[in-house]
Amino acid sequence: MAPNESNGCPSPAIGVGPSYRPEAEKPTATVSRKVDQSNVHILPQTPQLIALLTMIRDKDTQRADFIFYSNRIIRLLVEEGLNHLPVVPHTVTSPVGKDYTGVKFEGKICGVSIMRAGESMEQGLRECCRSVRIGKILIQRNEETSLPKLFYEKLPADIKDRWVLLLDPMLATGGSAIMAVEVLKNKGVPEDRILFLNLIASPEGIKNFAEKVPKVRVITAFVDQGLDDKNYIVPGLGDFGDRFYTL
Ligand code: PRP
Ligand code: URA
Repeated sequence: MAPNESNGCPSPAIGVGPSYRPEAEKPTATVSRKVDQSNVHILPQTPQLIALLTMIRDKDTQRADFIFYSNRIIRLLVEEGLNHLPVVPHTVTSPVGKDYTGVKFEGKICGVSIMRAGESMEQGLRECCRSVRIGKILIQRNEETSLPKLFYEKLPADIKDRWVLLLDPMLATGGSAIMAVEVLKNKGVPEDRILFLNLIASPEGIKNFAEKVPKVRVITAFVDQGLDDKNYIVPGLGDFGDRFYTL
């Protein structure tokens, strides 16, 4: 079969920074594919982000480094996610007695991690939002069928009144993330108050997710080439949960 949009055509390769270097002197790297879905926000493909992703994609990167570099990307995702929350005008007076017209966040938030791999993103969220409430949804993908199964959920009682930062580093078929959004919707959270923070997505997963839950905003670091015959993301990074917790 010839490569096409659905079975994994190569991602674009461009010269990656720094910007003051002439194009001819920049190393060529594979950057994220662009997508059509307007609810998807891909982090800027900076040399720093590409270097961090290169570390965690490498099969020879050991667990301590995998955790360290994943955490750095997670921090970038959380910072970008917070840019999508609404703010209201807020004026303060500085120590020299002058007013500064600024803003402050409007409304309450909470994190929700899709266990197990999504729990790896909780620390990054806590670093930015000190005492944030965190709910858990345990969904596991069947290794043979790739279909998600819901085992458990424990969420803040007032979750329907909060903005939800949904956390899972991998979006492959999209089945697990869609199921998690359905759990949140059943608790009364409107789709457009959910932000899904994700490290690596497949184009198939992005399409499926945007079709099923079109109002959920996706913040991802990278849209990869596609899926293999076991529905693993390619080139991907393998099993995120195993690499972060057990390997
Ligand atoms: C992984 C990953 C996502 C899911 C993605 O979890 O963390 O939750 O697979 O695949 P999908 O988009 O095809 O549903 P997994 O179920 O392997 O469990 P883990 O977090 O314990 O590794
Ligand atoms: N889960 C992972 O951890 N990696 C994949 O590539 C797909 C699902």
